[in-house]
Amino acid sequence: MCGIIGYVGEREVAPIIFSGLKKLEYRGYDSAGIATVHNGKICIKKDSGKIDDIHSRMNLKNLPGCLGLGHTRWATHGGVTRENAHPHTDCSGEIVLVHNGIIENFQELRKLLKNHDFESETDTEIIAHLIEEEMKRGNDFVEASKSALKKIVGHYATLIMSKNDKRIIAARRGSPLVIGVGDKEYFPASDIPAFIDYTKNVIYLQDHDFVVLDKKGPKFFSLLNGKEIKREVSTVDWDAEQARKGEFDHFMLKEIIEQTETIQKAINQSSDVIKEVAEDIKNAKGIFFVACGTASYACMTGSYVFSKIAKKHINVVSGSEFPHFEHFLTDRTLVIEVSQSGETADTLDAVKVARRKGSKVLSIVNVMGSSLTRNSDKCLLTQSGPEICVLSTKAYTAQIALLILLAYATAGKLEEGKKQLKELYNSVYDLTALSTREHLKKLGEKLKNKDHMFTIGRGLMYPTALEAALKLKEVSYIHTEGFAGGDLKHGTIALIEGGTPCIVFVSKDTENDIISNAMEIKSRGGYIIGVGSENNEIFDYFIKVPESDITNPITHIIPMQILAYQVALLRGCDPDKPRNLAKSVTVR
Ligand code: F6R
Repeated sequence: MCGIIGYVGEREVAPIIFSGLKKLEYRGYDSAGIATVHNGKICIKKDSGKIDDIHSRMNLKNLPGCLGLGHTRWATHGGVTRENAHPHTDCSGEIVLVHNGIIENFQELRKLLKNHDFESETDTEIIAHLIEEEMKRGNDFVEASKSALKKIVGHYATLIMSKNDKRIIAARRGSPLVIGVGDKEYFPASDIPAFIDYTKNVIYLQDHDFVVLDKKGPKFFSLLNGKEIKREVSTVDWDAEQARKGEFDHFMLKEIIEQTETIQKAINQSSDVIKEVAEDIKNAKGIFFVACGTASYACMTGSYVFSKIAKKHINVVSGSEFPHFEHFLTDRTLVIEVSQSGETADTLDAVKVARRKGSKVLSIVNVMGSSLTRNSDKCLLTQSGPEICVLSTKAYTAQIALLILLAYATAGKLEEGKKQLKELYNSVYDLTALSTREHLKKLGEKLKNKDHMFTIGRGLMYPTALEAALKLKEVSYIHTEGFAGGDLKHGTIALIEGGTPCIVFVSKDTENDIISNAMEIKSRGGYIIGVGSENNEIFDYFIKVPESDITNPITHIIPMQILAYQVALLRGCDPDKPRNLAKSVTVR
């Protein structure tokens, strides 16, 4: 959560930081601020609210200097107020910094710093006062920052400046931080889109890295032993255009439509690598899929696919619950972690649990260079390009596509799996066409004033029902719950009354049973929306999708993504930045 970006170089800094923060807004958008250092002075502008609103109030681009940093916030400690917005300073106004992470011992440290004046309720401000304290002891800016960071328990990505210095300190432990490498200019930031307009060359920082950056270049140190270390420059394989909305009003729609391409890219993996992972799956004694949110529904889908295609049992556990399964792990267990960002704290914690027990960790990740890609024994990249909308859409279908491939490979039928997935191209194209979008907008009109909705599916369509419910509720704020078709009657059916919408996912193999479940709802006045290949007289509204057996979870979810988008727009919600959410959930 939270996005940070800094800049050292020769250009005017504030517009660069401003545009970087706009690109990082998906990480948090309740407050924002920028600080620059110019002629021995720190200049700060910050406030609560979205960046554009703050900018229209106080012109964030109008700050002097070529050295600066900025922050876009997703509140953890302290309410959404100007005081709690970053950047934060020490008492003397010499140090200024931004931070993404959580300082777990902040109450303890705050007690030790009782003589300091704190302006905010944040954990972050502690760092500035700790550095001030170290400088009072005679340490220079760099040494004081090192000592201060060593006192912190928790995780951080932080950028620090002093009014008397032309350098930025960048350090990370547990939260993402990369450095964009330009020509005599550097852009430390939470994520690559923040600086992709300027450079495609990046250095991925690792935990405990401490970097001193000026326009001549970075110097890297390890906070573990103080020694100077080396970090390589790599080049990203996507460009600025992919991180822009282009002709689309929102990233959400752009990313939904991109699925025609992204599903094909996901399956365009080396057959050797897929077969290697399939061998690991075959040889393992006990397999876990671990993920959070939407990615966990991809995993759940994967477990049904593995059961059907490879006759393999796979346990699916949410990242935050995985520590409770530690007792089942051995050095023969295989843990497969699935994540778009590769930075989700609960998913990363699961890696530590697996490591403690000597289990092997594989991952399926979208963001190359993320913590999960670096902490796994093997990694498959979904190659969906940047997913900027806070809601996961194209990464989800890419994850499912890869899991389907792996299941077929485990069954020794990789080519058959590839064929099934390649055939999806035309269907996905039709499902994202304008006519489909219009049809779903009409449905959106009928749903936009509802308070509650339900989604049901059986078998492979059950995780699809859960994911559809998540998409609808997180972006439209209409309470929507997903159920296995047979489960609604065990209690929740009490909530069905005249006109309650229920979306019913129909596949050939579950048709009879799910239609019976739909009847049960219809008899109690429910408004039935059918998603399937054939209309049925009990449907009040019908969404036609092709019957594609094992790839139904992909074809059936796409109209739901579009429906969620349309309902959000009709209700005046921002589809790219739903309230209270952030793209990378880097807190536990
Ligand atoms: C929902 C959504 C979240 C993420 C979850 C895990 O649309 O995007 O539920 O799926 O926070 O994120 P990753 O995949 O980055 O680990």
